[in-house]
Amino acid sequence: MRIAHLLSLLSVAAAFTKCHQRHPNRTEVLSSALPHEYVTDLPTNFDWRDVNGTNFVTVSRNQHIPHYCGSCWAFAATSALSDRIRIARERYNDGKDRVLVTREVNLSPQVLLNCDKEDQGCHGGEGLSAYRYIHENGIPEEGCQRYLATGHDLGNTCTDIDVCRNCVPSKGCFPQKSYDTYHVDEYGTVDGEAKMMAEIYARGPIVCGVAVTDEFLHYAGGVIDDKTGRTDIDHDISIVGWGVDEHGTKFWVGRNSWGTYWGEEGWFRLRRGNNNLGVETDCAFGVPSNNGWPKRKILDTTPVKAPVWSSEIGSLLAPPRQNSTCRHPVHFTQGEKILTPRPHEIIDVATLPKQWDWRNIAGVNYVTWDKNQHIPQYCGSCWAQGTTSALSDRIAILRNATWPEIALSPQVVINCHGGGSCEGGNPGAVYEYAHNHGIPDQTCQAYEAKDGTCSPLRICETCWPTDESFSPGKCEVVSKFKSYYVSEYGHVRGADQMKAELYKRGPIGCGMHVTDKFEQYTGGIYSESIWFPIPNHEISIAGWGYDEETKTEYWIGRNSWGTYWGENGWFRIKMHSDNLGIESDCDWGVPIPDGSQP
Ligand SMILES: *[C@@H]1O[C@H](CO)[C@@H](O)[C@H](O)[C@H]1NC(C)=O
Ligand SMILES: *[C@@H]1O[C@H](CO)[C@@H](O)[C@H](O)[C@H]1NC(C)=O
Ligand SMILES: *[C@@H]1O[C@H](CO)[C@@H](O)[C@H](O)[C@H]1NC(C)=O
Ligand SMILES: *[C@@H]1O[C@H](CO)[C@@H](O)[C@H](O)[C@H]1NC(C)=O
Repeated sequence: MRIAHLLSLLSVAAAFTKCHQRHPNRTEVLSSALPHEYVTDLPTNFDWRDVNGTNFVTVSRNQHIPHYCGSCWAFAATSALSDRIRIARERYNDGKDRVLVTREVNLSPQVLLNCDKEDQGCHGGEGLSAYRYIHENGIPEEGCQRYLATGHDLGNTCTDIDVCRNCVPSKGCFPQKSYDTYHVDEYGTVDGEAKMMAEIYARGPIVCGVAVTDEFLHYAGGVIDDKTGRTDIDHDISIVGWGVDEHGTKFWVGRNSWGTYWGEEGWFRLRRGNNNLGVETDCAFGVPSNNGWPKRKILDTTPVKAPVWSSEIGSLLAPPRQNSTCRHPVHFTQGEKILTPRPHEIIDVATLPKQWDWRNIAGVNYVTWDKNQHIPQYCGSCWAQGTTSALSDRIAILRNATWPEIALSPQVVINCHGGGSCEGGNPGAVYEYAHNHGIPDQTCQAYEAKDGTCSPLRICETCWPTDESFSPGKCEVVSKFKSYYVSEYGHVRGADQMKAELYKRGPIGCGMHVTDKFEQYTGGIYSESIWFPIPNHEISIAGWGYDEETKTEYWIGRNSWGTYWGENGWFRIKMHSDNLGIESDCDWGVPIPDGSQP
C-alpha cells in the first residue's frame, strides 16, 4: 500500500523532471596525469568506509527533507568531495596538524542550489558542472548554509548571505564576514569500470549518474543486479568502492542521499562491469585544492550594521528573538539513572594522561559532524545540540569510529519538547527523552531552527513531489528507522570527576555562562573571571590538554555556532578557574550503539 503510493508519487516526479540534468558544457580542467595512466595494481576489494580499519567517509545525508528537492547532484558532488578532503588531509598530513586533520568537513549542497546557475537547483543538475562552480567560486561548509531544499529555480538569491550566514537575537541574520571556502584544482569526467576504479583508488569517491528503477527505489539491501536494461540516467549518487560477493558477483559500493532508512544504512551495492543502471557511463570527479585545506574568505572588515534579510528566505523566518538564555539548569524529572559505577568512583584521576582529545586518540577521530544552531535563523537550542553531539560522539566511541557515523537529530528533541524549545531548555530532559523514546539520526528529521509539533511525521519523514506541488511536495511518515536510546544518565561536576567521565565514556554536556567577550573568541586558551557565573549556554567537552608554556590545564570544548566561530567551531578554556562556570553543571548519558532499547 505504502509502496504503491510512493511509486505513484515517483512516476509523477519523473514526469516533472529528472534529478540528473546533463549540462552541455563538458569542459574539464586537468593538470596532472589521470590515475588510470599510472595505477596498475588494484585490490579485489576496496572501500573508503574501511581502508585498513579507517573510515574516511563523511556523514550520510537526506535530500528529501524538510521537503522535496531534486538535489541529488548537489549531495553526490559535495559528499564525494567532503570524503576526498578527509582522504587528502590524511594522506598529506605532516603530523603537525593532526587534530585539525581529522575533523570532518561537510560541504554545503545548499550553496550549489542557490548559486550554481549551470545547474537547475531543485530541478536537477550534475557533478561535472557542480565541480566547475566549486573550481571557480569555492564552497563553504554546511555550517555556513544549512540545507533548505530550495534553490535558485524556486526564487532563491545568491547574495553574500545566501553563501554564508549567521544570526543573532539582537541583530537578526547577516552575511558572515569571514569563513573558510574549499576549492578544486582539477575536475573532469570518468567512465568505464577500469578508469573509475583507478580514479576512486587514487583520489577518492566520484559522482555517477544512475537510472532509478522500482528495484532501486525500494532497495533494502544486497547487490542490485538490474535485468530491465535501463540506462536512462535520472539520478546522481556517489561511488566509493568495490568488491566481489560470496557468489563471485562484482559490485560497486555506492552512497545515496535518501536517508539512512533507505538501503544498507543509506548506501547500496550495484552489479559492476556491465554498466548496470548506466552507472559506468557518466561520472565526474573533483580534486581538492591545497590537499584539502581551505582558503579564508574575508568579505570586509566593517562591523555588521542593520540586519539583512534575504527576501526569499526572510519570509520563512520568525522575527529575531530578543533573549538568548538557551540553557536552564540540568534537572532530571525522575532523578539520575545510574546502573553501573560512575568512572570517578573507579578511576584514580592522578593516573590519567596529561592530554586527552577524542578528536585524536592514537590517530583516530571519534567526533561526529559540527553543527550551527543559529541558521537559517536564530534558535536557542544549545540544550539539544551539546547533548546530541556528546551522545553521537559516544556512539562513535562504542563503535570504534567505524562506518556508519551516527549524528543524532536535535530537531526531533525540539519537536517533541524533550527539554525545551528555541527559547531554551533543560539538557537533562534530553537524556530522559532518549531513554524513553530514542532519538533517530539527522536523516530522519533535518534541523530547521524552529519549534515543531511532536507527531510521527516530525520524528521521521520523507517527501516526494505530487501533481499539485513539485516543491514542497508531500511528506509522509517513515515507519521503519533506527532510534538510539540511552541506558543511564546523570550529573557530573568538578574537574576530576569530569575528567574521569570523559576519559572512560566520552564527551559530556556542560553549561557555561557565555559573555559578549566569549562570543568574540577566535582562538587560544580562553579565560575570563566573572563573579557569579550562571550557565546560560550548553556546549560539549571532548577532552583536555596542558599548555607547557603557560603551565595551564585547559578543556577542549565543542560549540554549535558554526565552524567559522573559534577554532573551527571548537574552543579551549582554562581548567579549574576563570572559565565561566564550565565545571559547575555538566551532564552525561550512555548510549546504546546498535539501536536496541534499554
Ligand atoms: C564552459 O566552461 C568553461 C569554464 O568555465 C568556460 O570557459 C567556457 O566558456 C564554457 N563554454 C561554454 C560553451 O559555455
Ligand atoms: C593498507 O595497508 C597495506 C598493508 O600495510 C598497505 O600496503 C596499503 O597501502 C594500505 N592502504 C592504504 C590506502 O593506506
Ligand atoms: C525573555 O524575554 C521575555 C520578554 O522580554 C521575558 O519575559 C523572559 O523572562 C525572558 N526570558 C529569559 C529566560 O530571560
Ligand atoms: C570495538 O573494539 C573493541 C575492542 O577491540 C571490541 O571488543 C568491540 O567489539 C569493537 N566494537 C565494534 C562495534 O567494532
